[in-house]
Amino acid sequence: MDWGLKNRLSNIIKPQNNRALMLAVDHGYFLGPTEKLENPKNVIAPLLKYCDSLMVTRGVQRTSVPATTSTPMVLRVSGGSSIIGEDLSQEDITVSIQDAIRLNASALAMSIFVGSKYEYQTIVNLGKLVSEAEQYGIPVLAVTAVGKELGKDARYLSLACRVAAEQGAHIVKTYYCDNFEKVVESCPVPIIVAGGKKIPERDALQLTYNSIKGGAVGVDMGRNIWQSEHPVAMIRAVRAIVHGNLNVEQAFNLYKKLANENSKNKQKNKD
Ligand code: R5P
Repeated sequence: MDWGLKNRLSNIIKPQNNRALMLAVDHGYFLGPTEKLENPKNVIAPLLKYCDSLMVTRGVQRTSVPATTSTPMVLRVSGGSSIIGEDLSQEDITVSIQDAIRLNASALAMSIFVGSKYEYQTIVNLGKLVSEAEQYGIPVLAVTAVGKELGKDARYLSLACRVAAEQGAHIVKTYYCDNFEKVVESCPVPIIVAGGKKIPERDALQLTYNSIKGGAVGVDMGRNIWQSEHPVAMIRAVRAIVHGNLNVEQAFNLYKKLANENSKNKQKNKD
């Protein structure tokens, strides 16, 4: 592995403990103004210092992330469909490598839709993106997309993750499932787990804990952080599991304590 590629990867997956906390704010690329992410700048500002990297589109990076940040950017470079369109799996690469370099991307991210109508297109796109990005020492994170028709069990996710790794993805983002260890075992590159739809805070912390226990290097969490009533408390609790080795009970207690302090401060400012 070339020095640049190694260096960029080590900014995302911390070498001291082989763990990663990625904050996902790229949802608008197909969902538009997702609930509680209507104003990305306000969402990102208080959370940026608590994540190891930010998963973002170029539009939001340029408009809503301070260029002075030292947080590495994982740049989503695929798109082409929206939630009201015909088929979400019809994605292409929408960002040039030159623009990704201008944006100082630490990694490029794209989705593959294994088993969908457009699986061929998205898998070939992944292979081409890896070939291009490796010329510049930029790692590629492949997202194994799931959908109504696509599975979310260990058998499907093992297939999707392995296909991504075989195409040369340097990190694979997938979902937690029963027998998750099997997915990790058969994927030769690090796996990071997506948070998914908003669930109660304790459950999201359990998901984080289970993912790490199951062999993931960390989580790439979005809605379960910024759709929480207390996003900073939540990201700090998630971080305490990923980097502080807290168990679920300890992390949930930390969340409650920080959320309580936050509520009190808000009340004080109102008075
Ligand atoms: C989906 O493909 C997006 O790339 C999100 O980054 C991903 O789903 C993680 O966000 P969340 O934790 O909200 O699921």
